[in-house]
Amino acid sequence: MTPFVNRQKSASFESPVLDVIQQRRSRRAYSEKPVEQEKINSLFEAARWAPSSVNEQPWVYLYARKDQTDLYNRIFDSLNESNKIWAKHAPLLVVSLIRKTHSRNDMPNLSARYDLGAANALLSLQAAHHGLNVHQMGGFSLEKLNQNLNIPDNFEAVVVLAIGYPGDVQLLPEHLKVRELAPRERYLRQEFVRNEIF
Ligand SMILES: Cc1cc2nc3c(=O)[nH]c(=O)nc-3n(C[C@H](O)[C@H](O)[C@H](O)COP(=O)(O)O)c2cc1C
Repeated sequence: MTPFVNRQKSASFESPVLDVIQQRRSRRAYSEKPVEQEKINSLFEAARWAPSSVNEQPWVYLYARKDQTDLYNRIFDSLNESNKIWAKHAPLLVVSLIRKTHSRNDMPNLSARYDLGAANALLSLQAAHHGLNVHQMGGFSLEKLNQNLNIPDNFEAVVVLAIGYPGDVQLLPEHLKVRELAPRERYLRQEFVRNEIF
């Protein structure tokens, strides 16, 4: 079998998975309902327990609730226009960053992005458990974020997360409504899992 040739997709689950994995999705429709502080804490607690290379825990999170207008707008301002359209309704914005070097020897940490991805995955599943939606965004201006948040040189923002309770899809602009209601698809397991040599 040559991998990555046919790349067939399907919208159904091929084997049972945890409910939170099945329920998680990157929605664009948000309720204005604020996220309770204990739930915010619980999301970062989930991230805290992620695995990381040499247990470096290179992740850093900077969050802003919508009522923290100045801080919220400093993050929001950095988003691409295509993300601003829907993310403006999210009651919570989170910048996830890496510390670029190892704390013990100042050498570059080549696993930092990988580790942050794991932390964000756990955060997203914890959010799903609370009925919260997390939508990660790589579409932002690093330059604006560095400036607006005064981010030190040794840190780098990787994704911004829009977080909140799911809202009314009908309130989205037409093109986003279509995307929101479309079935989610994934490559079939046979397209990326092997049990034989390449
Ligand atoms: C690193 C990363 C960057 C992403 N950037 C954006 C983005 O800028 N705008 C956006 O609408 N979605 C963004 N997404 C969301 C993906 O499009 C989404 O996860 C993917 O389509 C699968 O959909 P699902 O999460 O609902 O399963 C990003 C996701 C990841 C992991």
